Amino acid sequence: MTANNKVFSFLQERFPVEKLFIFELFEHKVVPVHKASWGYYTGGLTFLFFVIQVITGIFLLFYYEPTISDANLSVENLALNINGGFFIHNLHTWSSSLMILCGMIHFLATFAMKAFEKPREFTWITGILLLGVTFTLGFTGYLLPWNQIAVNATKVGLQSVQSVGQLLPGVLAQIPKTIVTTFQGGDEVGQPTLSRFYVLHVVFLPLAVLLIVSVHLLLVQLHGISKGSDEIPKRFEKFFPEFILKDFIAWSIAFLMVFILAVGLPFEAFLPYPLLEPFNALGATPAGIKPEWYFYFVYYPLELLPFPVLVILSLIVMGILIFTPWIFKQTSRKVLTYIALAMGLYLFTVTVFGQQIYSMIKPGGG
Ligand code: HEM
Repeated sequence: MTANNKVFSFLQERFPVEKLFIFELFEHKVVPVHKASWGYYTGGLTFLFFVIQVITGIFLLFYYEPTISDANLSVENLALNINGGFFIHNLHTWSSSLMILCGMIHFLATFAMKAFEKPREFTWITGILLLGVTFTLGFTGYLLPWNQIAVNATKVGLQSVQSVGQLLPGVLAQIPKTIVTTFQGGDEVGQPTLSRFYVLHVVFLPLAVLLIVSVHLLLVQLHGISKGSDEIPKRFEKFFPEFILKDFIAWSIAFLMVFILAVGLPFEAFLPYPLLEPFNALGATPAGIKPEWYFYFVYYPLELLPFPVLVILSLIVMGILIFTPWIFKQTSRKVLTYIALAMGLYLFTVTVFGQQIYSMIKPGGG
């Protein structure tokens, strides 16, 4: 085979555009039925919560003021004085956490099912990008109410990124500092930071999710659903109407759940700080500054491990995540399932029991 043909057949295998014809989707697309088939619903659920975020976010924009003098008051006004304001605000907060939770489960499920296997390498890589953008949406949204703990936690987060520079040689050492100053908009967290986080949170990152999800779903459509099991699946169901109907039922149940939560249970009840306590630059840095729960998996190791060790570990993990389709090419789904279970156990333990583990290791801290 000539070099040209090799490139052509590589691209043709990864982007079989003939699969885009609508009758392919209606007539031929099938979904394997096996023990792990539930994993096929996790991506759609993540997408549902993203859609809820966009719709509720647009309503929040009617009242939110992105200035350090008014941001906290505008959130308070929205939650306490505007008809339906509490519901929309609470729905946005619950749904953000559920989007991240479903994204994490989807990541573990597709890993265990080996859904990244050739020719789905790019579906996996776009997924990793989506996970990164989703976490950044959470990080930037956390600052917007401009309250005491969130501003301090953002300072700590940005300082940690800047400290990476001390571990890098020569000109590389400037990169983290440049990243931080760009996001911060100056030497300190202040109005330029809020303006930048605001634009990132409401324009840039949602558009990035839309763009990357479009490529992600296009690839899912081009390759069909992966077989997801080491055995040859005994049964397949048609995507239209069987699978999509079940997908719709899953979305309806998930929506009902988040709707009930948003009506009846303030998300703030679980926050380690009062959302409506405005940031006070002269006030003491409060004890127990914490990021949102979905950052605990990196926050507690950051508190416990020497910083250089954590940076090296994080870089290794990021490398492994991106190159997963090649690193785990020969690994069986059974072994991948054990690895996914171990990752899930780690995430669960650190998220739920992180504080207790931390207090045991460092009494009086945290
Ligand atoms: C905003 C985040 C994400 C959204 C909205 C999303 C959405 C979806 C949807 C709707 C599907 C098709 C149905 C399914 O198999 O569940 C899918 C498939 C897939 N996703 Fe995601 N996804 C996201 C993040 C991720 C992440 C973090 C990964 C892993 C790194 C990932 C990897 C995959 C893979 C490999 C498939 C193909 C599944 C198969 O063929 O069996 N996705 N995604």
